[in-house]
Amino acid sequence: MRTSSIGLWALTAGVAAAKTCHDITLEVPVTARNGVFNNIETPETNFDATCFALSSTKQGRNITEMALSGYATVSGVYNISAQYCMPMPTATGAHTLQILTHGMGFDKSYWDLSYNDYNYSYVDYALSRGYHTLSYDRLGIGKSSHGDAKNEIQAFLEIGALAQLTRMVRDGALADLKTPTKIKNPAKIVHVGHSFGSAQTVALSAMYPDLSDGLVLTGWSTSADYMPMFLSGANFQQARLNAKNSDYTGGYFTSADVSSNVYLFFYPGYFDAGLLDYAEANKQPMTIGELLTITGLPTQSKFTGPVYVIDGENDVPFCGGDCSFTGGKGDSIPAGADKVFPSASAFAAYVHPNTGHAINVHYNATGAYKLINDFLGGHGLASKNHQHDHLRHHL
Ligand SMILES: *[C@@H]1O[C@H](CO)[C@@H](O)[C@H](O)[C@H]1NC(C)=O
Ligand SMILES: *[C@@H]1O[C@H](CO)[C@@H](O)[C@H](O)[C@H]1NC(C)=O
Ligand SMILES: *[C@@H]1O[C@H](CO)[C@@H](O)[C@H](O)[C@H]1NC(C)=O
Ligand SMILES: *[C@@H]1O[C@H](CO)[C@@H](O)[C@H](O)[C@H]1NC(C)=O
Repeated sequence: MRTSSIGLWALTAGVAAAKTCHDITLEVPVTARNGVFNNIETPETNFDATCFALSSTKQGRNITEMALSGYATVSGVYNISAQYCMPMPTATGAHTLQILTHGMGFDKSYWDLSYNDYNYSYVDYALSRGYHTLSYDRLGIGKSSHGDAKNEIQAFLEIGALAQLTRMVRDGALADLKTPTKIKNPAKIVHVGHSFGSAQTVALSAMYPDLSDGLVLTGWSTSADYMPMFLSGANFQQARLNAKNSDYTGGYFTSADVSSNVYLFFYPGYFDAGLLDYAEANKQPMTIGELLTITGLPTQSKFTGPVYVIDGENDVPFCGGDCSFTGGKGDSIPAGADKVFPSASAFAAYVHPNTGHAINVHYNATGAYKLINDFLGGHGLASKNHQHDHLRHHL
């Protein structure tokens, strides 16, 4: 295990507190049972990418089933690139750590957008409430190890990496690092996801219910009905044919351009055009292996802690553009996730107005951040905040 880079200092938006962050790389051993999709070829050109979108959205059939030729155990030691952040001054008491898993089209910077002086940073908001955060590039993406886009970088291998990362953190791996500011072991760990990162967080809780103390699922629902809108709206191109993403192999796709980026992630009228340009310039790919395995994850979890689901009202991939419309089947589309968590100590679902799929890139992102952290604080997962303790002594 190595640590690179040095703590960077930045001001937290709106509060007189600073943060310190460490960029770290962890070597993570992972084993998973993957699908073998040898009934289809890896798409190598942009034309192939469009053909994949056509076959995967054809009504009345299931491309995963068609492509699947068997199963195989995949094992490796992979590099996971992560960012650990803590409020400064650090808490004296026990803290809660939030492990943040990004969705498709982004990397770990989704949680700590530097745009407009970090005004949209989820990390800054969580730190202002006393939490520590660990965001990471999902296995296969960004600065984490890349791999074969079809038979290696799939949902179960990535869930294996998240599980192993969590075990390492619980076992003190971060506290052992020689970081400029010492990282202390967390008292509790909450898992927060966005989109595919939420799907992996749900699967983690189903497969290893004891690894987490609380779940926050953003940009996610149990419905797979709108996945074809995502697959078509992306207008997939090969990531390696895009100058910014030239080190990816065939079968790593990105959305084509700024228009497809808007379609998938943004709600017009409620975001800063400059932030759209930023998201487009920093967009990250998804693999064909991920797209083939996203619908095959566990549908029930024995998780016994609190669960919070929050979606932008105008989310396309998980709500078809309207999370409030259910045709009479329940309060909202995200509310339907209560069936996944029959043993949860608390469950709440919320539809956040005037927001598309990527909540963090909209004007009212901090409105969602507040609700998320209020929920955690209200369910025994508050973090000790040195400054608040200090203030209280003087009141
Ligand atoms: C991890 O990163 C280090 C340093 O960049 C490199 O030497 C090593 O080969 C990488 N390991 C894997 C599995 O990619
Ligand atoms: C940051 O957001 C706040 C409130 O959301 C706003 O008043 C302020 O102008 C923003 N600052 C920047 C630099 O965008
Ligand atoms: C397609 O088939 C796979 C493999 O049998 C299954 O796990 C998945 O749930 C199916 N997808 C849908 C949308 O029914
Ligand atoms: C911002 O988000 C909060 C939480 O969803 C909501 O209560 C509030 O009305 C929103 N504000 C605006 C201006 O949309």
